[in-house]
Amino acid sequence: MKKHPRYIPAFHFRWLTDWYDPMMRHLFPEEALKTALIAQARVQPGQNVLDMGCGTGTLTLLIKQTQPNAAVYGLDVDTQVLDIARRKAEQAGETIVLQQGTATFLPYPDGSFDRVFTSLMLHHLRREDKRRALGEAFRVLKPGGELHVADFGKPHNPTMWLISLVVRWAEEVHDNILGLLPVFIAEAGFRPVEETAGYRTVTGAIALYRACKPFAG
Ligand SMILES: C[S@@+](CC[C@H](N)C(=O)[O-])C[C@H]1O[C@@H](n2cnc3c(N)ncnc32)[C@H](O)[C@@H]1O
Repeated sequence: MKKHPRYIPAFHFRWLTDWYDPMMRHLFPEEALKTALIAQARVQPGQNVLDMGCGTGTLTLLIKQTQPNAAVYGLDVDTQVLDIARRKAEQAGETIVLQQGTATFLPYPDGSFDRVFTSLMLHHLRREDKRRALGEAFRVLKPGGELHVADFGKPHNPTMWLISLVVRWAEEVHDNILGLLPVFIAEAGFRPVEETAGYRTVTGAIALYRACKPFAG
């Protein structure tokens, strides 16, 4: 077995990782998008929350700052981004649990979390790994728990459609642009699956999704 699985780093190339946060802040509606994702999740005191593919920890920290009485975990495959996330948590004086691992094989028991977030990670995974990661999110959620996703979605206007003609060849974005993320989320067992918001960005359409793990029976 390989020690380090193949993965696409935050900004595609490892040498660009230190630029990830400044670029996100300046070129992307990062704060609006992540704030909206957290708002739709309504995290409650005492809940366990996972940020899958947490990267530099911006969303992970925001979740903790929004609900200080939740236990917040961030997982990413890349130790370089986790080091940045750790520094940011220290500077902010926040306690979050950061862990290295892959979304396709989460190191948590079944039914561990009330909320799973994943922001801009799924388009880094090949189709079979998108499905695996969503299956893992389903497994680690408690019945009644919720998945909250931000990622590239199907373009809903001509400008976003034009941008998508270029972006669809980047990383593993193609399935997102075809509108398959909600299909894969539903295939993992989530009901209902809703697209809750859309953002026009310089890199194309970003969609937010909310999905629930049904109570058994
Ligand atoms: C574009 S960044 C998004 C980071 C963060 N969630 C955000 O919204 O800013 C994508 C992240 O997914 C991580 N990633 C890629 N493949 C992964 C995998 N199989 N398991 C966990 N994380 C993965 C990358 O290391 C990177 O940090």
